[in-house]
Amino acid sequence: MAADYLHMDPFLEAADANDMIRIAESFGSFGTYADEATSEGLGETLPQRFDVGLYYLEQGLDGHGNRDDAETAASRTNYFRETYAYGSDVRAEGIQPFMEHPLMQATARKISGCEEILPAIVYANLLVPGQELAIHTDVPEFRGANRMNAPQWLLVCMLHSGLFERWRIPILTCVSWFGAAEGGAFTFYPSGPSGPRKAIPARHNSAILIDTDKVFHGVERVAQTLSDLPVIGQHTRLVHLGDQRWGLTEGGERLAEYTWSKIRYSISWKGYCFKDEAERATWEQGSDDLTIDQIIDTLEQALRRRAVLEGERPGPDALAQMMVETFVRFPGS
Ligand SMILES: [Fe+2]
Repeated sequence: MAADYLHMDPFLEAADANDMIRIAESFGSFGTYADEATSEGLGETLPQRFDVGLYYLEQGLDGHGNRDDAETAASRTNYFRETYAYGSDVRAEGIQPFMEHPLMQATARKISGCEEILPAIVYANLLVPGQELAIHTDVPEFRGANRMNAPQWLLVCMLHSGLFERWRIPILTCVSWFGAAEGGAFTFYPSGPSGPRKAIPARHNSAILIDTDKVFHGVERVAQTLSDLPVIGQHTRLVHLGDQRWGLTEGGERLAEYTWSKIRYSISWKGYCFKDEAERATWEQGSDDLTIDQIIDTLEQALRRRAVLEGERPGPDALAQMMVETFVRFPGS
């Protein structure tokens, strides 16, 4: 799949776009994006996306260095995410028509050249003033390896190594924006990490459809209206208070309050792109699945060919770090 994309502005019918705002309100309470998978025996003491964290702490969002201390950096990037629908598991009332929207499927078909588009997930991201999203690529999937059985950094290494294309399930993502927040532009490198960086404003009822597994992207800082960003930890929640207001809460304590117009709200739709019915069947049947051992062996051999690794295989954390440093090339690095 080429690193191609389509910017849609406007995106939905005006009434449907307003429904997306109502869905967030009735969903009501958003937690932070927490780790999901198990990494037993494989970089297990490292965070799932240490590839992103390391780069962000060093370089910041603009690649010119990060002047925040570690706590502020964590508060900036501990944004709020909830899943609206995952396959047939619909968790937000009224989201189904959006998940199955013909516009996303038709656009995904056009960009990927694939016949079979299977909507996989719809989730919402909310960022409060002062928050931003570090430059990253999303977690890809392969036949036999996904975030349910493999650490996220490993899946990212697999994609960037280019050694597992035969097993990759191309996924296209439609990121759409709703609401009136200032700042928070979607920033990305459509021509690859050494190409120019572009930005698309997160304007109400607009969207981009793009391969976010391959294309590095992030979110510019949402306009900061308070003098200080509250400390936002893993257990902080963003709760709809009614009357156009949201509250940041932690263990019953109110940390801050915001009007709707200050919150950056996006909805991401992801669809699997299968060339044809046969390719989809191979995935569904699991008849050509990778194993974790096969993945590690293949990456280890590549490290040895590049003379990055010599002698014995190092411990799990050291091997994980070596893989990320070798295979994941961030913009400007
Ligand atoms: Fe992303």
